[in-house]
Amino acid sequence: MQSSTFYRTHHCGQLRISDIEKEVILTGWVNKSRDLGGMTFVDMRDRYGITQLVFNMETNAALCEAARKLGREFVIQVKGKVAERSNKNNNIPTGEIEIIVDELNILNHSELPPFTMEDETDGGEELRMKYRYLDLRRPQMQKRLMIRANMVKAVREYLDAEGFVEIETPMLIKSTPEGARDFIVPSRLQPGLFYALPQSPQILKQLLMVSGMDRYYQIAKCFRDEDFRGDRQPEFSQIDCEMSFVRQEDVWNMFEGMVKYVFKKIKNMELPDFNRLPYLDAIKYYGTDKPDLRFDCKIVDLNEAVTGSEFAVFNNIISSNGLIAGINAKGCCEYSRKQIDELTEFVKAPQRGAGGLIYIKYNLDGTIKSSIDKFYNEDKLKEIGKLFNAQSGDLILIVADKINRTRKVLGELRLELAKKQNWINKDDWSIFWVVDMPLFEPDEDSGEPIFAHHPFCSPHPDDFQYMDSDPLRVRAQSYDLVMNGNEILSGSIRVHDKTLQEKIFKILGFSEAEKEKRFGFLVNAFKYGAPPHGGLAFGLDRWVQLMAGGETIRDVIPFPKNNAGKDLMMDAPGEVDDKQLEIVGIKLK
Ligand code: AMO
Repeated sequence: MQSSTFYRTHHCGQLRISDIEKEVILTGWVNKSRDLGGMTFVDMRDRYGITQLVFNMETNAALCEAARKLGREFVIQVKGKVAERSNKNNNIPTGEIEIIVDELNILNHSELPPFTMEDETDGGEELRMKYRYLDLRRPQMQKRLMIRANMVKAVREYLDAEGFVEIETPMLIKSTPEGARDFIVPSRLQPGLFYALPQSPQILKQLLMVSGMDRYYQIAKCFRDEDFRGDRQPEFSQIDCEMSFVRQEDVWNMFEGMVKYVFKKIKNMELPDFNRLPYLDAIKYYGTDKPDLRFDCKIVDLNEAVTGSEFAVFNNIISSNGLIAGINAKGCCEYSRKQIDELTEFVKAPQRGAGGLIYIKYNLDGTIKSSIDKFYNEDKLKEIGKLFNAQSGDLILIVADKINRTRKVLGELRLELAKKQNWINKDDWSIFWVVDMPLFEPDEDSGEPIFAHHPFCSPHPDDFQYMDSDPLRVRAQSYDLVMNGNEILSGSIRVHDKTLQEKIFKILGFSEAEKEKRFGFLVNAFKYGAPPHGGLAFGLDRWVQLMAGGETIRDVIPFPKNNAGKDLMMDAPGEVDDKQLEIVGIKLK
C-alpha cells in the first residue's frame, strides 16, 4: 500500500511480534480505555484493527494524565515504541504487542457517541440508521462492506476475462417494466413530463445487443417503488449481464462459473455443479419457487390416499378441485398440544389463510394418534404414513385448501419447522437453478395473463403451440438461481423477433397505442437485425448478505432506507419548497 508517513507509519491492524523495538506512528479512534492506577491502556481502532497503547504514570505522568482524559471516539495520533505484551490477547492479530507511547496528539474531539462502536453494540437499529456513519465504524459493518467490494472485484475479474464490456446506462429514462411502480422525476425543461428511474437496465441492455456489443455487464443501481421487506430496498444494485448468440445452457454455464469463482475468491470454497429444478417441481414439492434445500421435507399430495372417507372437510376439498397435502415433521411426534396449536395458528394467520392443520403422530411406542382418527383407521393412517416414509417418532402435518394455498402454506410451514427444529446447518450451502418458469401468470383479480418475469422473455420452443390456445401453460426460457432459499438472480433468453414480441404484447393486452408509447423504440430496434440474446441480473445486495452475514440486506448496504422507504440519517424523502415545485410545473393541492 502506497502511503505518506506524515500522519502514520503503520495502521492499527499491522504490527506483530516481529516489529518489537520499532519506533512507530499510529492514528485512529479511541475505542476503549482502562485506567489501572499506575498504567492507562487505550485500545485504538481503525478500519484495519485494534492496537493497544500503554501510558505509564511512573515514566511519563503528564502523558498518562492526558491519556486518562481521552474520550471515546477521539481521533488521536501516537508516537512510540512497539513492545511485547505480557498479557497476550489471542483473539486479535495484534494481540502480542502494544505501543509504549511517548507522544500523544489529539487530532479531533468527539461527543459521547449514542452507542458503542462494537459488534455487540447497545444501539437499536433505528438509532444506528440515524447515525449510520457511526454504525459503519463497527468492525462487523466494515468487514461486510469490504466483502461486498471484494465480491464486486472478483465479478469484474471474471467477466473481464470472459470478454464482457462494462457499460453504463442512464438513470433518467422511460419506464422499464419489472412489475413494480416507477420512481418518477419531473422535468424542468419539459414541464408536466417525467423521467422514470430504471427498475432495471433491461431494455437498454437488450438495445446494446442490437448494437453488437455482444457481452455487456454493469453494476447497476435499480429503483423500484414497492413494499419493502428484509430482502427488498427501493434502491438496490444488480450485477446486470447480457450476451448475444447464446442458449439457456450457455448462460447457465457462464454464470455458474462466475458464482464458483466468487466463492473460491471470497470463501476459498469449491462449489459442486448446480442442479436444475423445474419450476413446477419446486412448487409441487416445496410450495415455493425458491425453496431452501439445505434440508429435505417434501410436500406429499394426498387427495387420492384420503378419498372415500366420511370426513366432510376432505370430501369438499376433493370435489372442489382443491388439494390435501402434508409434510413429515421428522422426529416431532412428541410435540405437545400447545406446540401443535402454535403451528395451527401459524397456518391460519391472515397472510396464509389456511382453515386449520391436521396431524398424525407416529408415536415411539408404535401407536398412532391423529386428529382424524375418527375417519381413518390405523391401517389407513399407516398407509398414509408410508407415502411420507414416516417412522416411529414422526409427525405428519396436513393442510386442505385451494391448490395454491395448500402448497404455499406447507412451503412456509416447512421453513418454520426447520427453524424450530434447527434442521439447517449454517455452514451448508444450497445453490441450484430453477428452470422452465412460466411465461405468464394469471392476474389475481381478472385471471387474465400478465407477465411472470418481464414481457421480453422468450417462450419455450416446445410450448409455442399453446401461445394462442392456452397461454398460461407456456413455459418461458427463463430461470432463477436460488441460494439458501433466496432468489439471487433472474434471467431469460429474450425475444429478438419483432413479430413474436408484438404477439406477446398483444396477449398481455397492450393496445397498439400503449405498446407504441411504452415500447415503440424497442420494437423499432428489432427491425434492424437484433441478434438472438439472453442474460440475467444478480441481486448484488442479497448475494452479499448471504456471503457476509447479516439479518437483512440493510446490513450490507452502506446507506439503506428503512421499511417505510425512509433514510433516517438524511431524513429523506423530504419536503421541497413551492418555488422548486413551480419550476418543474407541479402544483400541490
Ligand atoms: P428481477 O426483477 O428478478 O430481474 O431482478 C433481478 C434480481 O434483483 C434482486 N432484486 C432486488 N434486490 C433488492 N431489492 C429489491 N427491491 C429487488 N428486486 C429485485 C433479486 C432478483 O433476482 N431485468 C431482469 C433481469 C434479467 O432478466 O436479466 C430483472 O431485473 O435478487
